Amino acid sequence: MKVLVIGNGGREYALCWKLNESPKVDKIFVAKGNGGTLSFCENIDIDVKDIDKLCEFAESEHIDLTVVGPEDPLCDGIVDKFRENGLKIFGPDRECAQFEKSKEFTKKFLEKYNIPTAKYMSFTDYENAINSLEKFSYPLVVKADGLCLGKGVIICQNSEEAKNALYKIFKDRVFGSEGDKVVIEEFLTGEEASLLCLVSNNKLYPLERAKDHKQIYDGDKGPNTGGVGTYSPVKASKELENNLKEVCNKIEEGLNKEKLNYSGILFIGFMIENDKPRVLEFNVRFGDPETEVLMPRLDCDLFEILNKTIDGSLEAKDIRWKDDYCLTVIMCSGGYPSSYEKGKLIKGIENVEDDILVFHNGTKVDKNLLTNGGRVLSITALGKTLKEAREKAYKDVEKISFEDAYYRKDIGVK
Ligand code: AMP
Ligand code: GLY
Repeated sequence: MKVLVIGNGGREYALCWKLNESPKVDKIFVAKGNGGTLSFCENIDIDVKDIDKLCEFAESEHIDLTVVGPEDPLCDGIVDKFRENGLKIFGPDRECAQFEKSKEFTKKFLEKYNIPTAKYMSFTDYENAINSLEKFSYPLVVKADGLCLGKGVIICQNSEEAKNALYKIFKDRVFGSEGDKVVIEEFLTGEEASLLCLVSNNKLYPLERAKDHKQIYDGDKGPNTGGVGTYSPVKASKELENNLKEVCNKIEEGLNKEKLNYSGILFIGFMIENDKPRVLEFNVRFGDPETEVLMPRLDCDLFEILNKTIDGSLEAKDIRWKDDYCLTVIMCSGGYPSSYEKGKLIKGIENVEDDILVFHNGTKVDKNLLTNGGRVLSITALGKTLKEAREKAYKDVEKISFEDAYYRKDIGVK
């Protein structure tokens, strides 16, 4: 079978790596891939947003399964287009991708189906938004409705900051049309967590949990990033597990009642306080770097379960996990998540132990292996305990180097 994976980050590398284990998969194409996927896939020079070209490619190569990594093509309707052309593709259609494309869409759904979330109001007009600020207490959160590369959320400590945030979005239009609508919501406290679910015909099949580390500095300090380290599994109390189950049931009920037909991955971001989860956001794709620790722990054929998800024949027993812990430390370019340089020579990958997985996030090959993004490499280890996985990963991070490399020293410590 031939597979096409769309995307170029660590998530896509990990998906390709796991698909490559399947005895059913003969060949993997990846658009565009990176300096790591080159070694076992064929990188294709088509942009993730060029849906027509991707579809033409899948048709001409007789691709048996396409797996979409990032949200942009999903929100632009890549799944609808492939299906219209009789091509099998993993991911939600454009209608369901609104859960990531529009924060207001998700908030309305959560409210309607009584799913715990922050109180909110949404606005299309600057003056109305300003006049409504008095209804909130501080801190509050101002969010551009649309896709803003993870930068559309502004936490405001006082009314001046809130007014500035609204001005930036509505008047300076820093997020362009993605900021045509704004959601203002209550600030939630607690521990952030996520739950990824395979969704087949609106039925949710939760995957084992992974803990992301979003802030750039140790101790969860500094600006948010896409995520610079993860581990899995994350143990939950019985009460939390029951509460998460209840959220999943309500989501299923909502999807059915709204006559949506969700298929693919639903990534539910939570804020958890005293075992009570409240939904922060939905994403309609695998998490990055959550995928980098989930794939090594998955003890079944990814190609098979993705196909079953699409066909509607998936059963919970099909999704099996290793008992091992998995932890990944992401080596970043100095300066990330602000500006950083690319093109630095990466040295030492050949020195890592055989049982360490080096997933590439942002690399390219130009004679040598070079850095090509903010997140560069995910150094990933399995272990019988979290401590063992952490010690193994950190030992080998030190064998790899590039100029200005940076990584957190406390992934999985808390
Ligand atoms: P989102 O894209 O909605 O997940 O927001 C990005 C990040 O902003 C989240 O991962 C949280 O760290 C933070 N955040 C978003 N909404 C809230 C909220 N209502 N209360 C506290 N923090 C929030
Ligand atoms: N790691 C968070 C995300 O993929 O959105």
